[in-house]
Amino acid sequence: MPPRSPLAAPSRAITSLRPERFSHRRSIHTEDGLTQKVQATLENRREKGRLIEPANPQQTAHMVDFGSNDTLSLASSGVLRTAFLDELANHPHFEVGSKSTRIFEGSTQYLLDLEDHMAQFHRAESALFFPSGYEANMAIWSTIPQPGDVVVYDEYIHASIHDGMRNGRAMTRMFAHNSCESLRECLLDIRQEFPTVANGEQTVFIALESFYSMDADMAPVHEMVKLAKEILPQGDVAFSIDEAHSNGLIGENGSGFICHYGLEDEFAIRLHTCGKGLGSTGAAVLANPSIRSYLINYARGLIFSTAPAFPSLAAVKAGYTVLASKEGENRRIRLHNNIRHFYETLTGHSEWAKCVFGGIISLHTEKTWDAESFNAPIIPLVTELGQAVSLAKKLQKSGYQVNPVFYPLVPRDKERVRLVIHADNTVAQIEGAVNVIMEWSSERSGGQFGKSASLVSDEDMYQNTAFSD
Ligand SMILES: Cc1ncc(COP(=O)(O)O)c(C=O)c1O
Repeated sequence: MPPRSPLAAPSRAITSLRPERFSHRRSIHTEDGLTQKVQATLENRREKGRLIEPANPQQTAHMVDFGSNDTLSLASSGVLRTAFLDELANHPHFEVGSKSTRIFEGSTQYLLDLEDHMAQFHRAESALFFPSGYEANMAIWSTIPQPGDVVVYDEYIHASIHDGMRNGRAMTRMFAHNSCESLRECLLDIRQEFPTVANGEQTVFIALESFYSMDADMAPVHEMVKLAKEILPQGDVAFSIDEAHSNGLIGENGSGFICHYGLEDEFAIRLHTCGKGLGSTGAAVLANPSIRSYLINYARGLIFSTAPAFPSLAAVKAGYTVLASKEGENRRIRLHNNIRHFYETLTGHSEWAKCVFGGIISLHTEKTWDAESFNAPIIPLVTELGQAVSLAKKLQKSGYQVNPVFYPLVPRDKERVRLVIHADNTVAQIEGAVNVIMEWSSERSGGQFGKSASLVSDEDMYQNTAFSD
């Protein structure tokens, strides 16, 4: 048994998976071998403070939303509901179910029209809709790279891309997060090692995200595109970007990061998901018609599964209608103002510098946010090891819903509270949340900021990270 880790803070108080929830059900065999094994594994996770227990919806309903990905507040405000009901009214004879897979009758006219709409909206040649971003990434990375190709990816890309690559047939190489230098080294190695990639017979894919979902920083796309052209002038380079966190938030009408920069021609594959800024579910892969057709032919999740039903598609269409409206534009502006206000209030707080100096919280984007013309709505408050739950609980008790995040979602020594800003957060809510964060920091420092350079020595840090599942 590893020593009880400081991460083992009680998580029950802030979560919902309580036995009483299931007490009305017939009791299942709790003594059988399988149940005992899974219980032991879960207990092990709980001891490490990493047991996942979804937030209790009855509690979060009364809290200020600093947790969900509904960043434009389209879902929570009811704006999306109104647009959705309008969309239903425009199609009074809709059929609820899609009745078949995409390769048969599931490709309804409504779905094809929606895909055309999304392609136009994001200035792409074509779009292919998936029920989720996860499934879309699985499809892209398990099918498109061919044997002999190489996929080069940022170390912080999303788990769904990793899962797709794992099921794929190409070789993979990782580069350090957002580091052009590391990407350069990686491409130079590939050029040396694989002449068929250097001469363009095989493809090198470069997988990026626009806003990284845990660190909230942005891929330096211009530099990376330039670099790949320099190092592989004859190469067949296919850039890909996951715009899960930027869809709806930036660019004309919220068309995204790549549209904002006018780099559509440089990115062979773009993924836009609908579960965050758009407030619904689903995703579209934007690519040329050959890649679209290839996915329809080879993406198993799409072939062997019923196509998305009309209500989900109508919600997505409604979301796009809102994005393109004045309401959508106002929400984008409010969101950007709120993000800036949060950063200004936090980093301008009289005790902030001491809090950072004391090693109590670090904010990866602290030095960069002000210079950017836009920022991700995610605020990654990295705490001392073992303290993310404590900060999250303090915020939750004060009525602010946030989520603590641990390994394996983030590196072991980078646990954090992930706070998400929304268009409908008020100035008072933002300032209230910042006050709670600073109060907590003050308590952590024993009321004396700057008492010591770090409350956890490097040695302690190392020991605390020495465990795994
Ligand atoms: C970068 C990124 N890609 C893909 C996904 C998966 O999208 P979806 O939630 O639609 O499955 C997420 C969601 O967490 C994400 O953050």
